[in-house]
Amino acid sequence: MMNASADAPAGDVSVIVPAAGSGERMGAGPRKPYLTVGGEPILLRTCRRLHELTDVFEIVVVAHPGDIDQIQQELWTDLHAVGVELIVPGGQTRAQSVWNGLEVVSAKAEVVAVHDAVRPFFSLDTMRALVSTARRRGAAVPVSPFLDTPKRLEGDKILETVRRAGLVRTGTPQVFRSDLLIEVYEYRMRTGELSDRITDDSQLVEAMGAEVAAVLDGDFNIKITSPTDLRLAEALLAAGLVE
Ligand code: C5P
Repeated sequence: MMNASADAPAGDVSVIVPAAGSGERMGAGPRKPYLTVGGEPILLRTCRRLHELTDVFEIVVVAHPGDIDQIQQELWTDLHAVGVELIVPGGQTRAQSVWNGLEVVSAKAEVVAVHDAVRPFFSLDTMRALVSTARRRGAAVPVSPFLDTPKRLEGDKILETVRRAGLVRTGTPQVFRSDLLIEVYEYRMRTGELSDRITDDSQLVEAMGAEVAAVLDGDFNIKITSPTDLRLAEALLAAGLVE
């Protein structure tokens, strides 16, 4: 674990950035967060954008244990310059990685956001709306309309058509009052596992019966998980649709 104590900026939002996935969908080469988009590692681009938010006073990066040495040597100076205070090793599942980050979040954090390293183009306006909504309502997630027709699949056979009305897609950043996020993770640690069936953080809040508010997301918050996504990201940048 790396720690750099700097003069802490104002703000009460801590952001956990899970970046410890194994990156199998991307194929050979560096893991996803260290691939570059527009000449900059995706992880650095994501943290740089988070750092633009005045409410954010610390960023905790959760990295694959096998990447920590390389980050220390090659990226730490740049990451620290954009508000990264700590880098901790991730776990087997995303939820385990988030928990590892949550354990080191500063006690000063009133609000904790979780944002995937591989989503560098999230909207700052959406994030601001998520933070203010989470302050009032406990938990807030970005949503986009679901435009296709969802089907449930088994093997190569469609089992059924799922009713589209009322369905939305969600991603990150997801934002929580810190006491609530700690409570739901601690409850989960006592009663179950942080398995790979937990694909986002708000589902733990829902499972406890607490409210999760929905905030409409921007248009280009893509998750870069495949070589095609990388090409799309470069194209969005080249077209000036994201920065
Ligand atoms: O696996 P998934 O696509 O849901 O990953 C979303 C984010 O969670 C990625 O940024 C990935 O690096 C991170 N992750 C993690 N630890 C894991 C699995 C995924 O930090 N064990």
